[in-house]
Amino acid sequence: MRVAVLASGGGSNLQALLDCCQGDAPARVVLVISNKPTARALERARTAGVDTVVLDDPADGAALVGLLETHRIDLVVLAGYLKLVPREVVDAFQGRMLNIHPALLPSFGGQGMYGHHVHEAVLAAGATLSGATVHLVDAEYDRGPIVAQWPVPVAPDDTPETLAQRVLAVEHQLLPAVVLAAARAGRVVRLVPTEPGFNTAPPPRAVGSALRPT
Ligand code: GRF
Repeated sequence: MRVAVLASGGGSNLQALLDCCQGDAPARVVLVISNKPTARALERARTAGVDTVVLDDPADGAALVGLLETHRIDLVVLAGYLKLVPREVVDAFQGRMLNIHPALLPSFGGQGMYGHHVHEAVLAAGATLSGATVHLVDAEYDRGPIVAQWPVPVAPDDTPETLAQRVLAVEHQLLPAVVLAAARAGRVVRLVPTEPGFNTAPPPRAVGSALRPT
């Protein structure tokens, strides 16, 4: 499965994908796209020998679809991509475009809910549980069907930064698990826990092996 990753920032989730998609893994990251020439994600891609593209105009849907088609992309992953994906792209990759969100959707999602804003909102609400969600992208922000989730407990003394860090560690396991399962099945598959309930004990256990495709 040929995977393109769109990222605007640090690219630690991209790195998790680059690391899991090696050797005889059924998926390969073959293209990394950013709206931001200085994104660390681009550096990570170059280091891994993966093609990179900086978009001239992130709102140009036809150009983005063309780029993805030229690279024969099967699956698109938004990993910290901060621009709205144009409608043409969402339509062209229906069922084949994933996003990772650092909370348990449908809570704490939607427009403006990105980065530290998400964790601030979780803490402000007094929630005792947060987590990571991978979902299919559709026309609305953070509203597409959920593919996999994993919970992360909120500690009484958490700051947005400490919570973000704990959630990110789970993201780095959840996203590769979803991409590898999709590559094995030849299509995006929902992952559910192999056992009833989740293990939220920190540090996160092997999330991937505690999930199975449905
Ligand atoms: C992650 O928390 C992801 O859930 C969100 O943006 C952040 C990206 O982090 N969409 P990184 O660039 O992968 O390090």
